[in-house]
Amino acid sequence: MSGNGRADAVMTLIEPVTRNPGQLPAPQQAPPVKLWLCPNDDLTPALRDLLAAHWLDEQERHTAGKFLFERDRRQYLVAHILVRRALALEAGLAEAELVMWRSRRGRPFLRPVAGGLPRGGTHLDFNLSHAGGYNLLGIVRSRRIGVDVEGLDRDARGIDTITGTFAPEEQQWIARVAPGHTRDRRVLRLWTLKEAYSKALGLGLGLPFDEFAFTLDDDRGVRAFRPPDQDRFGRWCFLELEPVPGVLVAVAVPAGDGQPGVLQFHHGFPWARAAPRDIPLPEPVGGAV
Ligand SMILES: CC(C)(COP(=O)(O)OP(=O)(O)OC[C@H]1O[C@@H](n2cnc3c(N)ncnc32)[C@H](O)[C@@H]1OP(=O)(O)O)[C@@H](O)C(=O)NCCC(=O)NCCS
Repeated sequence: MSGNGRADAVMTLIEPVTRNPGQLPAPQQAPPVKLWLCPNDDLTPALRDLLAAHWLDEQERHTAGKFLFERDRRQYLVAHILVRRALALEAGLAEAELVMWRSRRGRPFLRPVAGGLPRGGTHLDFNLSHAGGYNLLGIVRSRRIGVDVEGLDRDARGIDTITGTFAPEEQQWIARVAPGHTRDRRVLRLWTLKEAYSKALGLGLGLPFDEFAFTLDDDRGVRAFRPPDQDRFGRWCFLELEPVPGVLVAVAVPAGDGQPGVLQFHHGFPWARAAPRDIPLPEPVGGAV
């Protein structure tokens, strides 16, 4: 693990946009966002340990060896095997050849490959989340991504604690419904979105959660977004999903110049190139139009 300035520099790099001199630029379709949701159960213990031995680097194997509980080790191993498999498919490199860097705040990056990636382009961004037996991985070209997965089964104390970190207008929206399932769901939808957003920035919990705010539709979807002062991207696309009942997923990507594009959703370990489910990304929110 090498937390250093090189990884932070990679965060600012984006691939050039191809333009046609002398012609009106066609509306650009942003590159697809690729999302994998992989349950731990998708890999048997024997296969998981075999793949870990072949694909993970020394640092990852060292980290896996430090967990006190077997369920945490299992979650970590499946998550990192998933990262290497999906990045290998996207980049065209062997799983064990991928070199990971980490920023000072612990955000992992794929080290740029001299001469570009075998499957085209130069930079991929990815983000990982793991919780309650599920591993969520987002990959995108030419822009940043943050993802989060959370189970809806938090206890009351956990719900109260995280609610206390939210912006005043979010706390008011939560308080508009009686305590219970609907209120917990509001809290966890906000929490998942906030984590995805702060992870896209690379700040994680280092970004105070009361410095930015979401306005949500009652059922699903982000209606408005008030970014924190340090946001240099301005407008964002946020997607909320519940791919499995009781499992909330949020994805955050900066809007860019063109059309929001689609998210390609894959469920299960990426053994083969099975067709994903295409989900249109919502219109951007936040910042100046
Ligand atoms: C990122 C963070 C919000 C993760 O919270 P979480 O809900 O427990 O975990 P999730 O499962 O959603 O995400 C964990 C993954 O996010 C990624 N991650 C770690 N730090 C990250 C960051 N700063 N930004 C974005 N993603 C990060 C990692 O891939 C991590 O999994 P891994 O450690 O197995 O590789 C939290 O760890 C955090 O705030 N980290 C930053 C801490 C910091 O600022 N440290 C400074 C040290 S001086």
